[in-house]
Amino acid sequence: MKKILITGATGYIGRRLKECLLQRTDLAIRLLVRNRKKVRLSVVNKVEIVEGDTFNREALLQALQGIDVAYYLIHSMGSGKDFEERDRRSAENFRDVCIEAGVKRLIYLGGLGVKEAASKHLRSRIETGEILNGRPDRLQVIWFRAGAIIGAGSASFEIIRNLVQKLPVMITPRWVNTRTQPIAVDDVLSYLAAAITLDVQGNLVVDIGGEPMNFRGMMLNAAKVMGLKRILLPVPLLSPKLSSYWLILFTPIPYQMAAALVEGLKSETLVLNDHAMRYFGAIRPLPYDKAVRMAMDEMERDLVVSRWCDSSSDTACDVMNQDDTHTAIFRDRRVIPLDAIPADRVFQSVKQIGGQDGWFSYHFLWWLRGLIDKLSGGYGLNRGRREYGNLRVGDALDFWKVVDIKENQRLLLLAQMKLPGKAWLEFDIQPDQLVQTAHFLPRGLLGRLYWYSVLPLHNLVFGDLARKLVARAREMKDVRKPSTL
Ligand SMILES: NC(=O)c1ccc[n+]([C@@H]2O[C@H](COP(=O)([O-])OP(=O)(O)OC[C@H]3O[C@@H](n4cnc5c(N)ncnc54)[C@H](OP(=O)(O)O)[C@@H]3O)[C@@H](O)[C@H]2O)c1
Repeated sequence: MKKILITGATGYIGRRLKECLLQRTDLAIRLLVRNRKKVRLSVVNKVEIVEGDTFNREALLQALQGIDVAYYLIHSMGSGKDFEERDRRSAENFRDVCIEAGVKRLIYLGGLGVKEAASKHLRSRIETGEILNGRPDRLQVIWFRAGAIIGAGSASFEIIRNLVQKLPVMITPRWVNTRTQPIAVDDVLSYLAAAITLDVQGNLVVDIGGEPMNFRGMMLNAAKVMGLKRILLPVPLLSPKLSSYWLILFTPIPYQMAAALVEGLKSETLVLNDHAMRYFGAIRPLPYDKAVRMAMDEMERDLVVSRWCDSSSDTACDVMNQDDTHTAIFRDRRVIPLDAIPADRVFQSVKQIGGQDGWFSYHFLWWLRGLIDKLSGGYGLNRGRREYGNLRVGDALDFWKVVDIKENQRLLLLAQMKLPGKAWLEFDIQPDQLVQTAHFLPRGLLGRLYWYSVLPLHNLVFGDLARKLVARAREMKDVRKPSTL
């Protein structure tokens, strides 16, 4: 039985790869995660888990000991200005400890592109590959390079889907004409999985992708699949900054990500070798329209495995040490009697908040808060949710992040909106009452002013929220089973 290590197993690709490899009986899977709370209970019994990150050599050694094949599915894109340096150190550490632990093969997924013309982010992905590849005498590396990945919840697909669904007529900047080779996420997983047993000596770089297509073509084709007619009007003068603002207003991605994407689209990202065909001939990438259909199906069936916002790829895990509500200085507490409503129903009602169902009433106030957040560079409300009625730790829920769940007892959300402080929303289901608390730890004077200025709005919004959650639970008949994804 081959021993496999998956890093980035709580991220977009890693989560899906883990689900895919868990179907195989010839593999024993170990995960390196920054916080084990993000791994679902249904998975915990099927894998070995090592907690740590790539900057911790001890954790790395523990994770890589006895491993035959290690996946490197990590990046530091959200970790601030020094992300390139972090990416470099992370890759060096991983490569060196792989060698020390006697790992036989390393599999990496990076981005397509030519270093000289690449954006900062793509260049860092290429540098990561070069570093991992740097000791061919001691460690074999199979380095996949992909352009836009089309799958439910992927950043590229979410941008396309949101623009296409929301805007019948779009003015488009020049970068929509830059070509890439989009690929279905399931095809990416097929390549990654097949690389475990590929019979090849030495390092190999494998460029993967479907037919070349520009962003304009991707949007028009996606519209066709969705049964929509869309008009794109080219405007040569739309600057990268303006188009980034355009993207953040109509799609769920925040400014930093939009700007990186627009910068990345300044140059083409095309397949530069035929190794996918030569070494993985049995895998035929799906046509673009089929990839879009599959992504839409996954969403429509409400079975989305992972999303671009599952991880923040920040310097620390996004749910690390976030359960510290006791540090809050201000609290808005609402207590609603349950009158014998079973706890599982109340919990189900609580788990359904946000996303398409919204926040019951005062929609305008929620919408306005989302808009203000978007304009200040935050996520806003339109990240929505991964799955209706089910949540797992690490899920984004509009501008919140799920940081703790105790089935039928507690849900804790951390505010990820731009705030002068730190805020949580907690739902505590006690035997005879629902206690809903908004906690706030202000930063300086501004934080305190903020809290007092929004108090009247909190009175409207939070009081109503707690009452309606209980009212909905009272009317509920069936309780949806927690999903295993
Ligand atoms: N997604 C795409 O559309 C796409 C397209 C082309 C190529 N790729 C490549 O695919 C790879 C994976 O990308 P992704 O989209 O899956 O990323 P992602 O969703 O942002 O996930 C990143 C993962 O890495 C973990 N992580 C970050 N820094 C770490 C560290 N220092 N030590 C240990 N774990 C760390 C995160 O853990 P936490 O959950 O704790 O934050 C998370 O699990 C990247 O190399 C990317 O360039 C992705």
